[in-house]
Amino acid sequence: MIETPEMITRSRTEREVLLSCANVTKEFSVAGGTVVAVDDVSLEFPEASVLAVVGESGSGKSTLARMLLRLMPVTSGTIAFRGQDVTSLSGKGLRDYWSEVQAVFQDPFASFNQFFTVGSLLRRSLALARIPSDEADALIEECLGYVDMRPRDVLHKFPHQMSGGQRQRIMIARALMMRPKVLLADEATSMLDATLRVNVLNVLHDLRSELGLTVLFITHDIGQACYLADRVAVMERGRVVERGSTEEVIFAPQAEYTRRLLSDVPDLRGSLRT
Ligand SMILES: Nc1ncnc2c1ncn2[C@@H]1O[C@H](COP(=O)(O)OP(=O)(O)OP(=O)(O)O)[C@@H](O)[C@H]1O
Ligand SMILES: [Mg+2]
Repeated sequence: MIETPEMITRSRTEREVLLSCANVTKEFSVAGGTVVAVDDVSLEFPEASVLAVVGESGSGKSTLARMLLRLMPVTSGTIAFRGQDVTSLSGKGLRDYWSEVQAVFQDPFASFNQFFTVGSLLRRSLALARIPSDEADALIEECLGYVDMRPRDVLHKFPHQMSGGQRQRIMIARALMMRPKVLLADEATSMLDATLRVNVLNVLHDLRSELGLTVLFITHDIGQACYLADRVAVMERGRVVERGSTEEVIFAPQAEYTRRLLSDVPDLRGSLRT
């Protein structure tokens, strides 16, 4: 059967929703009252898509990420993976969820033990995940390949012998070894200089097409969000104030807050991938 443009569009929009949150709220008790860090957020992450969550410091992005990762309980609302509620998972169910949803954070140096080589770091991660040691070498080589690295160049190195971008790519490779369906990157490129940043953004972009990975990219930088993502959600003080395709957000922003973020990056239209 020949696919018409309408059919192709439909099949794209009907991709399975892999991860979703509905009406998720997080309140913290602090001296003198309550902080609502995340306020009634509902988002969907379809399979093999890249969604960026963007907003200024303190807008609730990392709190949302921690709840999606089940590192922190929700105050109210639900999170579902493949349609199954994950908010009350524990034990093996939670461990299985954590192998499907992997994360990479801002400072790869903090995630390394400086006394371990990259090789021992990766092997330890595999051992902790109970992956048999006879599969380790092939898996390490495969996953380093996704981030354009070769075992013989990096396995003997200590963290301080690599650049920030190389360390971040190792962390992405480590996350991929668990064969996740979702990769959540929270400010994963924020500490990199411009060249290394583009390099890591391109690696994240390619993983979607190579592995069918769903990428959730969290950043305060709307320029990076629009460079990488198909869809963008903008958070302001815990709420999603704008959501849409990257083109919609760049060319027809609805919220005043989005317009303000966009005004900081005047050359954004030229950097759009599509
Ligand atoms: N454990 C906590 N206890 C109290 N308040 C918290 C806690 N964690 C976060 N907050 C507050 O929740 C709000 C959102 O914080 P969060 O770290 O999610 O923001 P963010 O968007 O990730 O910011 P950044 O861009 O700086 O990383 C902030 O006001 C913060 O002070
Ligand atoms: Mg944060």
